[in-house]
Amino acid sequence: MKALLLDYRERRVRLSDVPEPPPGEVRLRILECGTCGTDRDLAAFAFGAPPAGEPYLILGHEAVAEVAESSTPELPKGTIVVPAVRRACTGPCVSCARGRRDLCTTGTYQERGIFGLHGYCAEWAVDHAEDLFAIPASLAEVAVLVEPMSVVEKACDVAVRLHPGEPAHLLVLGAGAVGMLAAWAGVQRGWSVTVVSREPEDGRRARLLRMGGVAYRTDLPDMVADVVVEACGSAELAAAAVGCLKPLGVMIVLGARNETVRLPFLDLIVGNRTITGSVNAGPDHFRQAIASLETLDPSLLKPMIERRPLARALESLAAPVSDAIKVVHALH
Ligand code: BGC
Repeated sequence: MKALLLDYRERRVRLSDVPEPPPGEVRLRILECGTCGTDRDLAAFAFGAPPAGEPYLILGHEAVAEVAESSTPELPKGTIVVPAVRRACTGPCVSCARGRRDLCTTGTYQERGIFGLHGYCAEWAVDHAEDLFAIPASLAEVAVLVEPMSVVEKACDVAVRLHPGEPAHLLVLGAGAVGMLAAWAGVQRGWSVTVVSREPEDGRRARLLRMGGVAYRTDLPDMVADVVVEACGSAELAAAAVGCLKPLGVMIVLGARNETVRLPFLDLIVGNRTITGSVNAGPDHFRQAIASLETLDPSLLKPMIERRPLARALESLAAPVSDAIKVVHALH
């Protein structure tokens, strides 16, 4: 079958023919697979690992698939599904044992298409039913946004639990797919939302955000936010945005990388402010993501997606695509 993979011997990304996966509980016909910053980091060999003893890793962790064969009555043939990314650590730790692999404490978890397990950017895959989330047919066209939305739902959940008051204003750093989905998730919670990013104020992303009731700006506002979601990958901007947090405010860091930055600890102390990281998502967040995408206006979601043939995957990974918010490759 055709697959997009990282060749660890030649240290390059390539499209290749590889053997189909051995039979499993559910056989999936992969329909499409999204790409994100993690895939670009993987393609640069910045992190990630192939399955033990194998020379390559099939990429892809934002997948939409159709059940092709199944031994589980709950997921009959033809069901459209989105798979979870993370699999339990060996042990397993207390979090993994209760299904919250996103909170794994040993760090020995595996992630499909990222750490130690093949991903879904291939024609076929197999999975356990417990790792698959059924998608209503009405959502199939935007289902590729379920995985990034699950990360956002978890981030909002964490923020609400950590905020000791009543959050009303969300500031999002970055207008990529995660940033835009975070903005929609904030609007859904009844928060007023501002997105700060580099794209011009009359650009496509800014226009789409304004259509959805979100304010857009290119510089950081003063102390306005109860919640800040960092989805821009910049530690420097994240550190500067601590100055945007109102007392009791919570910042959720999703994309920033390790860098030496100055943090205003006194402001954190006297304002009871919190900065925390969040990664991956639990099963309830996948369900929440499906539910919230279902209630969002499709005219805000569909323009986020640019579909391309698999043959263009190398080009998509080589550089972030300026105008496309979520690049998706078709497998079937
Ligand atoms: C994925 C998460 C994953 C994280 C770290 C992100 O791109 O959306 O599911 O846990 O990368 O590997």
